[in-house]
Amino acid sequence: MAKITVNGGKKLNGVIKLHGAKNSVLPILAATVLISGISVIHNCPRLSDVDAAVKILEHLGAVVVREGDTVTIDCGNLTNYSIPDELMREMRSSIVFLGAIASRMGKASLSSPGGCELGPRPIDLHLNALNELGLKIEEEHGILKCDCGEGMIGTDIHLSFPSVGATENIILAGVTAKGVTVLHGAAREPEISDLADFLNGAGANIQGAGSDNIIIYGTSVLRSAEHTVIPDRIEAATYLAAAAVTGGKITLLGAIPAHLTPVMSVLKTAGCELSVKQNQISLIAPVRLKRVPVIRTMPHPGFPTDAGSPLMAMLSVADGSSMFVENIFENRFRIVDELKRFGAKIYTNGRVAVIEGVKKLSGAAVECTDLRGGAALIIAALASSGVTEISKIHHLDRGYEKLTENLSFLGATVERC
Ligand code: EPZ
Repeated sequence: MAKITVNGGKKLNGVIKLHGAKNSVLPILAATVLISGISVIHNCPRLSDVDAAVKILEHLGAVVVREGDTVTIDCGNLTNYSIPDELMREMRSSIVFLGAIASRMGKASLSSPGGCELGPRPIDLHLNALNELGLKIEEEHGILKCDCGEGMIGTDIHLSFPSVGATENIILAGVTAKGVTVLHGAAREPEISDLADFLNGAGANIQGAGSDNIIIYGTSVLRSAEHTVIPDRIEAATYLAAAAVTGGKITLLGAIPAHLTPVMSVLKTAGCELSVKQNQISLIAPVRLKRVPVIRTMPHPGFPTDAGSPLMAMLSVADGSSMFVENIFENRFRIVDELKRFGAKIYTNGRVAVIEGVKKLSGAAVECTDLRGGAALIIAALASSGVTEISKIHHLDRGYEKLTENLSFLGATVERC
């Protein structure tokens, strides 16, 4: 099994370019199903989750060609409306394909996505909303058999929680529905706006993306489109934390500062010096990080849950105690036991974690529990004296392209073997 070894204690200094946002390109790839033509997507990152989405598109009958960070998808001749169980299990966020497949094909069949490392991942908000849009859904032995007859019908929808995935599914189902869909309580993440920008570029009429009220005017036909994916704000948060914890200095090219205001606020409280330009963020770390009294993860524009684990690792060597309150996922703290192997002092109780900053961490043998937990292990390893060996790194491959190459370029002693 592949592993990453890190010989920690080196300052990270330098300039790197961010890759495209995983959580933007996945719903955009699903959206290409709605277009019976060619979609050209630029700044598409090389990630295993993207590979899984491409496998689903090819299973549906799409022709996908990848050249560098550009992916060309031809959905002119789709021949299937099901997602095989193994692909649903490979990536539970494949549920976001449901609205698009049902809208294009009139029906869809896929297995209920199981839970994941972060805990049960219910899809009730997705299914209730799609049902209100006219999708008949029957569950038999874990398979969702869906049919929308003559097509989806626009309506008013109220989300009880601003679910990112459910918001995306509703947009994908509403775009070619008959009539207007008004979504109240929508997620406001930047990835929602990126999805709407791609679809509007294909002739859709989606207004209000990025706010909690989105209006989708049903459009009968979408045309071929070209789009450049926004940068990955969680990758950005990860590298900022890596430079901060090693006392380094970093500039991230392609970053959109407006996507990272809550993360930058925490980094400033921790004593980092931040400067921003239109499409870049620079950080200079203090000699020793300061505590951050309370960090509450919230839907956007609050502090993003995905940045929680990397910044928890960063604060494990801060001067004083910090506290995280995780309001999104039940098992976000699964990585804590692995972080304790470095000597971190972290105490959890339900959704609260208190991190008592220690002067130093020591290298350890650890394993990734999930994608962002893996990022936390990398951050702790970089801050540790001695060698760390990280296993189950397939979790990292889901969301970080060229991770070890970038870290080496910045001055870390790191190897994938
Ligand atoms: C997206 O997941 C992201 N994934 C996650 O990133 C991210 O952490 C999350 O949004 C929150 O920002 C992708 O975009 C592919 P949600 P998603 O629906 O859509 C509950 C990463 O590391 N819920 O906003 O699954 C759910 O259980 C990943 O890149 C329901 O109860 O998130 C959770 O507690 C991890 N019923 C909360 O809402 C539903 O029908 C947030 O889920 C749907 C969700």
